[in-house]
Amino acid sequence: MAFEEGLYNEVLKRADIVKVVSAYLPVVRKGKDYLAKCPFHDDTNPSMHVSPQLKIFKCFVCGTSGNSISFVKKYAKMSAMEAMKKVAEISDFHDPRLEGITKVKVVDPKRVPLVKCLHDLTVYYQYALNSPEGKVGLEYFTNRYLDAGIRNKFRLGYAYKDGKATCDFLLSKGHSLKTIEDVGIALAINNAYYDRNQGRVIFPIFDNEGEVVGYSARRLGDGSEAKYVNSPDTYLFHKSNILYNYHNAKEKAHIAGYVYVLEGFMDVFALYRIGIEAAVATMGTTLSDEHIRLLRALNVEVRLCLDGDLPGQKASMTMADLLIKNGINVRIVDNQNNRKDPDEILNTEGDVALNAYLNKLISYVDFTLNFYLNTNPLQTTEQKTQLIQEFVPILLGIRLQLELDSYIGKLSKITGYTSEAIRNILKTAKVRPEIRDYRSMIIDYHPERKILRRLNLAERELLYQMLQNKQAVGFYEGNIDGFYDSTYRVIANFVIEYARTHDNFVPVDIISSLENSDIDGKEMMVNQITELYMERNHPKCDQKLLDNLQQVIKEEKERIFENDLLEQSLQNKSQLDQARILAEYNRRKVRKK
Ligand code: UTP
Ligand code: MN
Repeated sequence: MAFEEGLYNEVLKRADIVKVVSAYLPVVRKGKDYLAKCPFHDDTNPSMHVSPQLKIFKCFVCGTSGNSISFVKKYAKMSAMEAMKKVAEISDFHDPRLEGITKVKVVDPKRVPLVKCLHDLTVYYQYALNSPEGKVGLEYFTNRYLDAGIRNKFRLGYAYKDGKATCDFLLSKGHSLKTIEDVGIALAINNAYYDRNQGRVIFPIFDNEGEVVGYSARRLGDGSEAKYVNSPDTYLFHKSNILYNYHNAKEKAHIAGYVYVLEGFMDVFALYRIGIEAAVATMGTTLSDEHIRLLRALNVEVRLCLDGDLPGQKASMTMADLLIKNGINVRIVDNQNNRKDPDEILNTEGDVALNAYLNKLISYVDFTLNFYLNTNPLQTTEQKTQLIQEFVPILLGIRLQLELDSYIGKLSKITGYTSEAIRNILKTAKVRPEIRDYRSMIIDYHPERKILRRLNLAERELLYQMLQNKQAVGFYEGNIDGFYDSTYRVIANFVIEYARTHDNFVPVDIISSLENSDIDGKEMMVNQITELYMERNHPKCDQKLLDNLQQVIKEEKERIFENDLLEQSLQNKSQLDQARILAEYNRRKVRKK
């Protein structure tokens, strides 16, 4: 064990697994548990159960399970140490022993030459900005209020007009032509290679760790050529996955409690100039799955701030809807009647105005309602009915009753319909498909029950009781000649060992002790145990129950061993196959009678 087990257990004890999981995935409450779409298989219905009491999770479809640390480990593909640190961080748990843990960078050999090449090129661009030819670039930046502080922090630069020289420079630094092509820089014209960014000012694009992976190059001034030239998609750079400034913002967002999502990096600089660093920009694209994943991981309120023109407003609503469906808290900057982007507001109206603008935050429903009222007439009964109809799906998506009441009240005021009437429309309306999914989810879902026979149920029950208290463990040791099911048997042996050194049986402790052991097949054992813990409706453990279970186990075992052939046919079979064979066997027996 490379780290202290005591610390590991303490982190687990402090952690709220629901908070940990929801830092990565949306979860919804269902009774005592929470549900999420399982990220470990292609899940359509939420099949992953998260139990705050037991501090464990379990997917009932693919079987993946564990505690909050193993969740982060698996989800974020981290080492156990890093995952432990991450869980502590989410749980606001501080301990000096955690500070020594540093990130182990997984080196991808394919990345190395590309990253090196871009590093050299970025330095070259930065150098060029301060050369005599770069003066035009420097002037451009100065006119746009991008001072030395910003230029250095965001590594802004200039690409010489002589783009062939740039490629030659990289070749002289030892980068191959293939590498220069692979990073998306070299543009072949008539058998010669040019820098595709030549003669433009340079905005390096960083990945989530702050490494340069591509560029956006802007023309100087107004011309007829494209305003921005972006790196093509490469092994390192995927435009639709980039959130510009994410590597800086991820630190700041936790402190601020929010992150602004902007349209362009010029807007990121504008917010930076007034002291707001928790801001990212999509590269002018729509929200991708990766964007959503990154924003969700921040676990803070997302503040959408897009352009106030018609497409910008529509995009705001689409994005907000998508984010909300993914369980992210969203508010939108009320940009209606504002045609300027944050950069323009700051430069023409000043910092107070930009601050005020950024703080005019309204909910998605209010935003949509305003939009509707601004773009649709509202005089006739039909028009008013239409408004209500438009809002039915949105209202159905609201989970808080108070919030719903408040919007119904608003709609009632606007349309003249009574709140009662609007409520009735909602009741008869079709449920949104994604909500229907959650509702049809059966919480007391026990797939195992369908295939398990009497013996298995009895053994399972006894094992469940053994995981809860020592009395059952003692009973097993004294009265049962080992479980028939081999997995149950190994677990039982483990529990017996555990009981020798522990008086209290806390599920999360038992599991972490197993996870930290080097027992063969512990993964499967953990899965079984979590599954057991998550089951409901187990009877209370008393002598009567134990005697009863012993009786069933005895009878059923005898029945099985009566038939040697059957026993043989069951050998080396999975539990599922065994159940199938036995079911078949029993059916035939009934027919013969
Ligand atoms: P905008 O057109 O809003 O750019 O596009 P901007 O930030 O206001 O830039 P300035 O102030 O005119 O210099 C927003 C984002 O869309 C992408 C860029 O990533 C930009 O930041 N975009 C825009 C392009 O990729 N290519 C373009 O030609 C224009
Ligand atoms: Mn702009």
